[in-house]
Amino acid sequence: MSDNQAEKHPKLYIETYGCQMNIADSEVVVSVLKDKGYSVTEDINQADVILVNTCSIRENAEQRVWGRLDVFKQIKRKKPELTVGVIGCMAERLKEKLIEEEKTVDLVVGPDAYRELPKLLEEAGSGQKAINVILSKEETYADISPVRLDKNKVSAFVSIMRGCNNMCSYCIVPYVRGGERSRNPQSIIKEVDDLFQKGYKEVTLIGQNVDSYNWHNQSERVKFAQLLEMVAKISPKLRVRFSTSHPKDMSDDVLYTMAMYNNICNHIHLPAQSGSTAILEKMNRGYTREWYMDRINAIKRILPDCAISTDLMTGFPGETEVDHKDTLSLMEWVKYDFAFMFKYSERPNTYAARHLRDDIPDSVKTERLTEIIDLQNKISEESKKEDLGKTFEVLVEGVSKRSKEHLFGRTTQNKVVVFPRSNYKIGDYVTVEIIDCTSATLIGDLVSE
Ligand code: 5AD
Ligand code: SF4
Repeated sequence: MSDNQAEKHPKLYIETYGCQMNIADSEVVVSVLKDKGYSVTEDINQADVILVNTCSIRENAEQRVWGRLDVFKQIKRKKPELTVGVIGCMAERLKEKLIEEEKTVDLVVGPDAYRELPKLLEEAGSGQKAINVILSKEETYADISPVRLDKNKVSAFVSIMRGCNNMCSYCIVPYVRGGERSRNPQSIIKEVDDLFQKGYKEVTLIGQNVDSYNWHNQSERVKFAQLLEMVAKISPKLRVRFSTSHPKDMSDDVLYTMAMYNNICNHIHLPAQSGSTAILEKMNRGYTREWYMDRINAIKRILPDCAISTDLMTGFPGETEVDHKDTLSLMEWVKYDFAFMFKYSERPNTYAARHLRDDIPDSVKTERLTEIIDLQNKISEESKKEDLGKTFEVLVEGVSKRSKEHLFGRTTQNKVVVFPRSNYKIGDYVTVEIIDCTSATLIGDLVSE
């Protein structure tokens, strides 16, 4: 490509780390840049611009990005006109320090400044360093149609809110993503409607704390249960998921709405973090062990077939063996279908970093985490065995990696099932009976209808 062509249609390569929100944000970024003539390449060596959308949640998430920046440095050595930008949470946390410490970086853009990317890239292209890390109280990118980067064209993330007001003492999110704001419901419905028209069969409504979704103007107010219902009504053939719920805010209203609509999937991700009330208090989570258990009881009462998953963190400052045992016993009691499990990682400037000493040695954190993971593996295995002989509707997402003769998809409970291909294709709903399981997957057989 000549320089002239590159100028007209520069090629963008984008890499995304972190949560679903970052995946959705990268789709907004691509939309903003495509409108200005950029094209997307999946070949990093073809790129005129490399953007890395970053996560700051734990130190190792940031380490991974530093590693990638080393790789980009090598590429830039051979191609000095290449622009390298760091965007997202790490850009917001480190600001100009990123440019100072890493000469490869030309551009630093925080999560609320993506509309400015074309202008900033122009500045960076002319040899200046460009930075915008201003957080906004209003930005929701409501009017931007994200360009879907997923491969299967079956399921998409739809952002319904941004930021977070919770101030859990360990968490960097409120600092890097700003305060909570809810997106206009009409723009959400329009986006989901468009996706369904394009053939998508599943949307996941995402936000840091979907239960506190609360959009209003002078005459109207829409809360999460209502939004969920509005989205579910678009079509019974469209599956609706959401994430993440917060135990302190998850209301029975949402559970009853889930029970009313078959297409709202039977899965709730309800991060517990710890099973000890003393630790939960230090984490500023806003609930006790008993409150959390009451919410689980509500789910089991209103939605008996609902899968429950969680996030657990071990080694928070001051965590005793007794606290740790409380986490294990909570896991046994809930019987989570799935869990994300982490060691506490101190994040600079959070309340915990400023006021609580990171006093659990790494060896103890590792020991406790191993115990938690082993227990969850045992519980997950038991939960899979309980599915043997049951029949589920599966939404087909792709061809199995192990065999071209098999497809895979997920049940409403979000469990992965592999089953014979027959004449089915991606995007179909298929009824399967579970006949076997491996540690990560259910194996199904087709049920004739
Ligand atoms: N250290 C370890 N894990 C963390 N999480 C959030 N902040 C930290 C931290 N400082 C975990 C929580 C959260 C998930 C997204 O990441 O479990 O629910
Ligand atoms: Fe997502 Fe939080 Fe990581 Fe940002 S810091 S990418 S909000 S998990």
